[in-house]
Amino acid sequence: MVPRMKKVSFAEFGGPDVLHLVDAEEPHAGPGQIRIAVRAAGVNPVDWRIREGQKLGAHPIELPSGVGLDAAGVVDEVGEGVEAVEAGDHVFGEGFNTYAEFAVLSAWARMPEGLTFEEAAGYPSVVETALRLIREVGAQSGQTLLVSGASGGVGSAVLQIARDRGITVIGTAGAANQDYLRSLGALATTYGEGWVERVRQLGHVDAALDLAGSGVIRELVELAGTPRKVISIADLSAPELGVRFSGVAGSVPEALAVAADLISRGKLHIPVEKSYTLAEAAAAHIDSRAGHTRGRRVILA
Ligand SMILES: NC(=O)c1ccc[n+]([C@@H]2O[C@H](COP(=O)([O-])OP(=O)(O)OC[C@H]3O[C@@H](n4cnc5c(N)ncnc54)[C@H](OP(=O)(O)O)[C@@H]3O)[C@@H](O)[C@H]2O)c1
Repeated sequence: MVPRMKKVSFAEFGGPDVLHLVDAEEPHAGPGQIRIAVRAAGVNPVDWRIREGQKLGAHPIELPSGVGLDAAGVVDEVGEGVEAVEAGDHVFGEGFNTYAEFAVLSAWARMPEGLTFEEAAGYPSVVETALRLIREVGAQSGQTLLVSGASGGVGSAVLQIARDRGITVIGTAGAANQDYLRSLGALATTYGEGWVERVRQLGHVDAALDLAGSGVIRELVELAGTPRKVISIADLSAPELGVRFSGVAGSVPEALAVAADLISRGKLHIPVEKSYTLAEAAAAHIDSRAGHTRGRRVILA
């Protein structure tokens, strides 16, 4: 009999109620891939954007579809041509349909000592995004980077990577996350009425990132002095103001190596705000879509 597993799946685009926990055939590692017994899967806004049918990439999503990109777990199959990893290793990385008992990964690294699976699943894609943004906006040691929407997954990674590189960060977030931003080494202020002036009071801005897509591109350009020093990952209208929208992922293996190094040196820690079971995937999407996650949300398989 073909082995079966539990997996979160949707057969039509729509709200969180299209998600179902189904019995499915187990996936297998192809050449250059590994399969893991998933222990935890990271919840990313892109997961519910895809479920809603938002047009994000060049490739159409085939239905029915699984959900999830990030995962941490135990290697149990190694594909052709894969070296330096074996069954039983604890890894974190990116792959396909990770809200499941088993998933195939296309990029992975060994988990740093002392990290739980739950924590590890939160790092891969946000660290890739953070490294890409810091590189693309050209922030250098000694400069100040303004981050709008700094307390979520990507923001938490940007703040800590920037600090490790000697970049000062001014972060905006809600009132409840001011101490959190400061704990990550940032200068903090709230978004909303009067925020531009509050940022000015904190210092000169050399470059700015829009992570929240809250319609502040014009103000970020004003603060950074030029659209060339502003990048958005969340506002598709940014190019209308001459600001780059960054949407093409960089090297995930490189991001995992950087994450593992920073975590091992105690320079990167992204807290998990809440964990869910596979059966609670819809609740995880509702909570993520509300847009106020501190750190990460994770699904435990
Ligand atoms: N283009 C790409 O390559 C790419 C890659 C990754 C993510 N993304 C997108 O980038 C966005 C952020 O991702 P994420 O994983 O960091 O999301 P997240 O974990 O949900 O974080 C969202 C953060 O935005 C803050 N926020 C909410 N309303 C705000 C406002 N009006 N002004 C400033 N900040 C506000 C929240 O802070 P408070 O809780 O303090 O309000 C929250 O911490 C998502 O839209 C995601 O789809 C794009």
